[in-house]
Amino acid sequence: MALTPITLNTEGPVYERDRPFAFSPNLFPENQFLKDQSFIMKYYLNPDQTPKQYYNIQADLTSRPLPPLHPGTKQPVGPADLAPLFPMELIKQEVSTERFIDIPDEVREVYQLYRSTPLVRATRLEKALNTTAHIYYKYEGVSPSGSHKTNTAIAQAYYNKQEGIKKIVTETGAGQWGTALSFACAQFGLECEIFMVRGSYDQKPYRKAIMETFGATVHPSPSTLTQVGRNLLEKDPDMLGSLGIAISEAVEIAIQDEHTHYALGSVLNHVLLHQTVIGQEALLQLEMAGEYPDVVIAPLGGGSNFAGIAFPFVGEMLRGGKKVRAVAVEPASCPKLTRGVFGYDFGDSAGFTPLLPMYSLGHDFIPPGLHAGGLRYHGASALCSHLLNEKNIEAVAIQQLECFKAGLIFAKAEGIMPAPEATHALAQVFREAEEAKQSGEKRVILFNLCGHGHFDMSAYVDYMQGKLQDHVLDEEVLKRSIAGVTAI
Ligand SMILES: Cc1ncc(COP(=O)(O)O)c(C=O)c1O
Repeated sequence: MALTPITLNTEGPVYERDRPFAFSPNLFPENQFLKDQSFIMKYYLNPDQTPKQYYNIQADLTSRPLPPLHPGTKQPVGPADLAPLFPMELIKQEVSTERFIDIPDEVREVYQLYRSTPLVRATRLEKALNTTAHIYYKYEGVSPSGSHKTNTAIAQAYYNKQEGIKKIVTETGAGQWGTALSFACAQFGLECEIFMVRGSYDQKPYRKAIMETFGATVHPSPSTLTQVGRNLLEKDPDMLGSLGIAISEAVEIAIQDEHTHYALGSVLNHVLLHQTVIGQEALLQLEMAGEYPDVVIAPLGGGSNFAGIAFPFVGEMLRGGKKVRAVAVEPASCPKLTRGVFGYDFGDSAGFTPLLPMYSLGHDFIPPGLHAGGLRYHGASALCSHLLNEKNIEAVAIQQLECFKAGLIFAKAEGIMPAPEATHALAQVFREAEEAKQSGEKRVILFNLCGHGHFDMSAYVDYMQGKLQDHVLDEEVLKRSIAGVTAI
């Protein structure tokens, strides 16, 4: 059967609502082939079924998270403190306790380029693992930038454009966020400038090329363009950089010009909010599959893809609905959730940002140059930290060799190269599938395959050639770095 075309006109998308948009087994009831349930493995939504609102978990929390503090006065930050960096609509979203916040039509229109993303039953992986578990993944790698980051980039670019901003400056670690924002800025006619962590900049020249293709300017960080960068390069000209440093550089540039704003690809409440389109879609798609997850798994760098897939399910549970385990997976070499301190810390290295209540390894912590660049961040978002502290979610730290091994098995079975960040979720999926097999239970596992790894092949080559190692954190370095965090 031919797929229904989508046409765009100036008023917005027009859909043929009476015919199926894409492959969804329950939309093809007459198809004999699909009546055999074992063939059914991929679930899409019609365009008009995709979320019209973002889900805000702040409405369902049983206790209020602590507020961010002004670094000088140590008082809660107000809108005026954030206005030089962010548009007012995003500042309002940051503090909103409304359960649902409308997604602007202009944003939904760009989402239609790739949403809904598929929910896939990984039957071939299940076979490869010989497990009794049912494994589902939500594949965000189909987005224009290749990861979930596009979901918030589009929204952030839109709100900045609405406020008359001309240019957005940001940082990027793995390059996924920078790519997403470059694309989103191109959609809304904004300039885009990106500070890319030096380690990734050197490892992934094609990430830089794609950002430039979308029209962005990209610098390695630390750079000589900012005072922060110059100071660091003076001490160590070969510094690999970190997300915390790149954030400081981007903020330093943004505050110098009233027509320029800063955008963050994770951590802040509004970023997590925008990602909830993932979990909201997954709820509906799993309903189509007739299942509900026992466990939801995602890697955690700052917390946005984890929140995106997990918060809609955790919210159901907090409102008295079905119980679900939500497991955040971090690299053992950057273990803020499992070995960090829950306290007030800066979001960046230089201390420009407000003090955030979060699990942190200390804002000076420079993680080893592991290949999952997007997970090399010293802190976890305030909302994820709060939920972990309240024991509503779980966290686990895994070494990179176990992750890459799982990534390759997945690639062979399902035909998708996962981003190195996503292999952290996979390693935990493998552990859960093995537990299910041992106990003979049908555990329903949902994980976020938050990006593809097409620009990360050098990491896989290193792994296959036996050049990668697990990192053992130096206890003394960790202790010194954590000492800077004011425990709550
Ligand atoms: C593919 C991918 N997954 C996960 C992450 C981690 O970030 P977050 O925790 O905000 O999702 C990143 C960050 O760059 C990423 O690129």
